[in-house]
Amino acid sequence: MQTLIVYMSSRGCAGKAALMIRDLLPDEVTVINLESDELPFLDSFHTLIIGGSIRIGNLQKRLKKFCEKNLDQLLKKRIGLYICCMYEGNKAREQLMENYPEPLVSHAVGIGIFGGELDFDKMNVFERMIIKDVIGITVNVSLFNEKAVRAFVKKITG
Ligand SMILES: Cc1cc2nc3c(=O)[nH]c(=O)nc-3n(C[C@H](O)[C@H](O)[C@H](O)COP(=O)(O)O)c2cc1C
Repeated sequence: MQTLIVYMSSRGCAGKAALMIRDLLPDEVTVINLESDELPFLDSFHTLIIGGSIRIGNLQKRLKKFCEKNLDQLLKKRIGLYICCMYEGNKAREQLMENYPEPLVSHAVGIGIFGGELDFDKMNVFERMIIKDVIGITVNVSLFNEKAVRAFVKKITG
């Protein structure tokens, strides 16, 4: 069975999740960064995992468009959806629900909220201000949740 992971990542966290999922899956897995890689024919894949990260409440636009444009085809496949973000619990779940099409969320066999990472050295002044104001964090932190990634992969392999 062939699996495709399609992801986007602004600073690497959602990319790290994609590679971890690839390594945990027993299938043959193709990983695509939608920002830089060419998309293969979706017909070749039985399972699709789609993941990105949240900035100011939004998933990467191109990833959203990918889901909307291919929705009919995606609804015929085994689907996993994930996000990386700093919010936790209901707030994080809301961010996921608001950013993926509702039919896709309902159809997904796995939904993953993997936490996030903040590295102030990689941010510009504008981003630092947003983080302070929106999230209220001022130091580097990693909430990346490997346990959540493993639980997600278990649901996908079900
Ligand atoms: C400018 C900026 C805005 C962010 N906005 C949000 C947000 O609205 N909600 C949230 O939960 N996390 C937010 N985050 C945290 C990111 O989701 C987190 O850093 C994540 O690990 C980024 O993943 P990436 O490295 O794959 O882009 C924001 C981070 C930055 C730098």
